[in-house]
Amino acid sequence: MRLDKFICDCTGLTRSQAGKVIRQKLVTMNGELVKQAALQVKDSDVVSLDGEQLQLIGLRYFMLHKPDGYICSTEDPEHPTVFTLMDEPLIERLHTVGRLDLDTTGLVLITDDGQWSHRISSPKHHVAKTYRVWTADPIPTAAIAQFSEGVMLRNEKNTTLPAQLEIVRETEALLTIHEGRYHQVKRMFAAIGNKVERLHREKVGGLQLPDDLAEGEYRALNQQQLELLRS
Ligand code: URA
Repeated sequence: MRLDKFICDCTGLTRSQAGKVIRQKLVTMNGELVKQAALQVKDSDVVSLDGEQLQLIGLRYFMLHKPDGYICSTEDPEHPTVFTLMDEPLIERLHTVGRLDLDTTGLVLITDDGQWSHRISSPKHHVAKTYRVWTADPIPTAAIAQFSEGVMLRNEKNTTLPAQLEIVRETEALLTIHEGRYHQVKRMFAAIGNKVERLHREKVGGLQLPDDLAEGEYRALNQQQLELLRS
């Protein structure tokens, strides 16, 4: 890889900023000052910027337990973002896989791998998402059939894809959906004349939010958990 690209990938500097630090004689390779941005960097080379060794950061995959009141976007003038809960280098490269509403809690996936997040969130792939829902009014058993057949949401042309509803108690249920329309769960309950009071995402694909991941905490996904997201 070219030296200037290597510097960009390690630091988040732009190509022109990388060229500038090279010209400013701030970059060494294997202890020698280097002046050419086009120089090739091999795996065994040690590149330093201003005396600090640079390390390539590979693609990263995290799960986070989102608390109420945090927003799933990179910036917001009014609310803290989920990224403020993380302590990672080059945090600006990370994005959430889809979004949960401000007041929804639970499992959020975070990555800097755009292809991976696209595959999980794209409607084409129908990755299942399971939510625990608490409602204002009792959930009738007829809702199981309604959601399994699909309901028409306000201002939409097509009914929702078949979704699985398991009623846990009068005003609590687990709902599994296979798409991710705007405010989908809240709108599905609104479509049957009920109101979601609280919403918590427990599962994406085969990956369950672990019991020992407290609200506000996050951790890297291991290989086995990444596999579960393929299922
Ligand atoms: N459906 C909603 O209505 N809100 C969410 O945050 C997620 C799914």
